[in-house]
Amino acid sequence: MHDQALERLTRIGIDLSAEHDVDRLLEQILEEARALTSAEAATLYQVDTDAGLLHFKILQNERLGTRMAGKKGRASALPSVPLSPENVSGYVALACEPVNIADVYEAEGFDFSGPREYDRLTGYRCRSMLVLPIQNHEEEVIGVLQLINARRGREIVDFSRESVQLARALASQAGIALTNAHLIQDLKSLLEGLIEVMADAIDEKSAHTAGHIRRVTQLSAFLAEAVNACEDGLFDRRAFTQAELEELRIAGLLHDIGKIVIPEHVVDKATKLECIYDRIHEIRTRFSVIRRGVEIRALERKLAATGNGVGTAEIAVIEEERREALSELESDLSFLENINPGGESMAPDRIERLHRIAARSYRDDQGCEQPYLTENEVRNLSIPRGTLLPEELARIRAHAATSVRLLSRIPFPRKLRNVPRIAGDHHEALDGSGYPFGKTAGELPLQSRILAVADIFDALTASDRPYKKAYPLDEAYRILRSEAAGGRLDERLVELFIGSGVAHRLAEAAG
Ligand SMILES: [Fe+2]
Ligand SMILES: [Fe+2]
Repeated sequence: MHDQALERLTRIGIDLSAEHDVDRLLEQILEEARALTSAEAATLYQVDTDAGLLHFKILQNERLGTRMAGKKGRASALPSVPLSPENVSGYVALACEPVNIADVYEAEGFDFSGPREYDRLTGYRCRSMLVLPIQNHEEEVIGVLQLINARRGREIVDFSRESVQLARALASQAGIALTNAHLIQDLKSLLEGLIEVMADAIDEKSAHTAGHIRRVTQLSAFLAEAVNACEDGLFDRRAFTQAELEELRIAGLLHDIGKIVIPEHVVDKATKLECIYDRIHEIRTRFSVIRRGVEIRALERKLAATGNGVGTAEIAVIEEERREALSELESDLSFLENINPGGESMAPDRIERLHRIAARSYRDDQGCEQPYLTENEVRNLSIPRGTLLPEELARIRAHAATSVRLLSRIPFPRKLRNVPRIAGDHHEALDGSGYPFGKTAGELPLQSRILAVADIFDALTASDRPYKKAYPLDEAYRILRSEAAGGRLDERLVELFIGSGVAHRLAEAAG
């Protein structure tokens, strides 16, 4: 091999290894192969062992001025070829050895009806042909390279021995480059697949937050785009790179991953008494037992009074007492049912009434004294706002720290290395009042602030807790602005979010 050719091959090797887009790589391989062997035309097929076919990928024909590519999902320009030894490409793929033919119209042993049909349709004349296998790192044939019509000046000649040598060297470089590109693409798809699965798992964990993850990711992307489009220097002409936007997208998809380890009955605790099921039903049953006790006692008293020959006045008193006791029971039960959903705050008079009810007792079937309400029920029903006990709230809040902990264990590629940090910052506030770390403005990059705005907005407009109503848009904007004025959210981002109609874009995207 000449020094010149060797130098050229080395350069090609470097160029090919720099290209990671498979389609562009294939184009480049074909171009280089044609240039090295002075071939007028070239075709590349991809081996599909499962289907027993060679799929057409690209064709370049300099004389006809054609460049065709077989795109995914579209009918290919050239049909697929059976992976069988009758046709030359099939043979090369199966035998894993090159075939050099002087004239396809005179050669025997292979079915050349395909090239001839191509000639008939295009008016081309296919003569010399060099067909080579391309192997991957596991020495499997992944592609077949067909070089057609070697030229010497204006003349079409056979492919020389040197051409065969050069083309083989190139095919082996192409194999390595293609393997690398495929491995990189496979890794990307694998990571993307895992991220999607995790995002769906978080969304499906709670019926109340269904769709939250996707919406927050979209809202963050729109807000980041609005920052990029901002020309007034508000963000010091900060423009997110493609890699940064991708990092933000993945952080959005994974920001609530920590919720996976929180039990459903805490994440979804819809009422104060809920604990896998809503214990208000136990109280209802207990109250019906108490009611029955009241009825029985009244009847027993009436019976005794009648036996003693007591007058109707006494019976009326017993009846009145029975009615009062029942109506008090009914009113107490409906009070408990009212405070259970946690929609209204517990004023001191309500707490007092709760304790009054809890202090009462009744006798069960065994004649044992039982309180109207257990200690745990009283504790839960006393929750001043919402349905969560302090430890349950802490458990839910811990999801942000859990997100950081879980995500930090994923070896993200370098350009995605900030994913755990951005994801973990979504409940932090600029004034240090957020969680889990109480970070302050200087520690919160723009991406983290974007995610925080998107997360709060969605929580407001989509009702993230069962007892919380979803706010209308203008009310949500008002709350965002007050959060910004209070120094918790980035004011510039909140104004940009509202001003650039990020929420409307989301609504349009959702159709
Ligand atoms: Fe969260
Ligand atoms: Fe969230």
